[in-house]
Amino acid sequence: MAILIREHVPLAPLVTLKTGGDALFLITVTTVDELKEAASFAEQKKLPLFVLGGGSNLLVSDSGFAGVVVKLSLKGLVYGETKDGLVTLTASAGEELDSVIAEVTKKEYWGLENLSHIPGSVGATPVQNVGAYGVEVRDVISEVTVFDTETKKIISMKNTECHFSYRHSIFKEQPNLIIVAVTFVLSTIPNPKISYGDLRALETVTVSPEIIRAAVIKIRAEKFPDWHTVGTAGSFFKNPIITATEAATLLSKYPDIPTYNAPHGLVKISLGYVLDKICGLKGFAVGLVRLYEGQALVLVADHGATTTDIKNFKKIISDIVFQKTFLQIEQEVTEI
Ligand code: EPU
Repeated sequence: MAILIREHVPLAPLVTLKTGGDALFLITVTTVDELKEAASFAEQKKLPLFVLGGGSNLLVSDSGFAGVVVKLSLKGLVYGETKDGLVTLTASAGEELDSVIAEVTKKEYWGLENLSHIPGSVGATPVQNVGAYGVEVRDVISEVTVFDTETKKIISMKNTECHFSYRHSIFKEQPNLIIVAVTFVLSTIPNPKISYGDLRALETVTVSPEIIRAAVIKIRAEKFPDWHTVGTAGSFFKNPIITATEAATLLSKYPDIPTYNAPHGLVKISLGYVLDKICGLKGFAVGLVRLYEGQALVLVADHGATTTDIKNFKKIISDIVFQKTFLQIEQEVTEI
């Protein structure tokens, strides 16, 4: 069946920040064959191709995207056999992450419950190695199936081949690798991860994946705005990762900043704390854009805001943080 190619399609309704211009072309694909067709269309037209999942971590330029946006709607969940307390689940890229988590927690499979209520599609999760409440998606991924637009082949990449790190993976560097499915390895044996600050209250009760899911949903409801009603993409910035020496200097001035150990002896700094307690920016607004009252790392763009407004706001915030702390902050959201 031929794919439906739409021209000049507004992208704002397809992203949770709800800003930005049109895609020159937009193609929604529901099968791998359709994805291949869409990729060859972009190639014939000599246009860049961008793959859109749930649009929950994306800032679209006000001038739009002068290329082919492919909206992945591949669906399907396939469970493997349970063996040695482990079960695999291969989820197609277009499945909604949270619906998958609702299903597996009901089945009492452990592994994904801490990632409850994160908006977005399954296929987008490995790209930035989504994480929350002490779990990163790389902890539960066994392999990722991709379509390589260069070789035109479907290949399976093992976890280690994905080069996962904090909010990063090989997929951020090689856009030719389009994720079509993700295989998770879940546990049927209890394996709660509740040592992260906000979840510690659960340490005294008997937990199940559903109980942890409910707790995470409650915390998130307090800390995150509802993306159905306002423009937001969760954390807008990354928590900065700095050297131990830099951290020591920063902490000598601000000893209460929460820090976490990062690989290679580096130190991750809680930017939410810095924005809120050091810079006093929680709730700070310029026009229609602000840092959320419930969590300063979360940017909110009210109806009518543009991507230019968000970019200007980002610059103001980055400058204030730099002046106060010498931290150079980076945005977490992808930009097209
Ligand atoms: N904090 C404040 N004020 C604020 C925000 C945070 O003082 O306004 C303090 C908190 O009290 C806490 C620390 O900063 O001591 C860390 O805050 P939190 O636990 O809320 O987590 P975060 O580091 O700000 C990260 C992820 C979130 C994820 C949460 C929970 C990044 C960029 N963000 O935020 O992920 O949900 O941890 O695990 O790593 C996302 O990536 O979009 C995202 C929402």
